[in-house]
Amino acid sequence: MTDEIKTHRAIAIDGPAASGKSTIAKKLAQHLGLIMVNSGAMYRAVTHQILEEKIDPTNHPAVIQALTDMELVGGIDPETSTSTISINGQLLTHQLRTQQVNQHVSPVATIPEVRQCLVDMQRAYLQHHDLVMEGRDIGTVVFPETPYKIYINASEEIRAARRSKDGESDAVAKRDQQDSSRKSSPLKIADGATVIDSSNLTVEQTLEATLQALQQQGWESPPFSTESPISNLNS
Ligand code: DC
Repeated sequence: MTDEIKTHRAIAIDGPAASGKSTIAKKLAQHLGLIMVNSGAMYRAVTHQILEEKIDPTNHPAVIQALTDMELVGGIDPETSTSTISINGQLLTHQLRTQQVNQHVSPVATIPEVRQCLVDMQRAYLQHHDLVMEGRDIGTVVFPETPYKIYINASEEIRAARRSKDGESDAVAKRDQQDSSRKSSPLKIADGATVIDSSNLTVEQTLEATLQALQQQGWESPPFSTESPISNLNS
């Protein structure tokens, strides 16, 4: 059994790169008054730090040693109720979305020790909050027992177009191939997840479809209130 059984509830939103899951996770969390945790930002933060330290991301022992040595802290932004990530005291924001990080994050995310460390951080949020968490393995590995699971998809063309519209250079097809074929917690549709294809839907329509799916999965809206929706995880 995972820690999720206590008092708090998790909504898992998984899907490939640029499928729209971050946007939907944020809007859903706002709509339901929950916090939103971006698990991809954690993999990106570790990747950023590895690159800063000039470590080869494919050198697993070196990456694992660097991970052990870095001070990785997850928090919550009280303004937005979304997760934050700091390494060695530095809050990371724009550094997480560079082309370099886009290019190297998938190989770093294949390392089981990296995954275990970050999954522990992800599960820790649920000890204090009801939440929406988005990523690749939230419904399969992080919170497999939650009944609230959504898988958001979109065609490859639409996803690549969304990324370039955002001004990001990101080989989404390559990243998806790596994320889906890795041995450790590959991207796949969780048992019991509702699949929503956002290719031809607006954000509002995707949110509506997500809310309907959650209702069918037994989510009662409004949920019971969280006693402390925006307190810092580490405070
Ligand atoms: O969601 P994102 O594109 O920011 O995620 C960046 C990378 O992190 C993604 O290519 C794979 C990895 N990732 C993961 O392996 N597991 C997660 N739960 C979230 C992200």
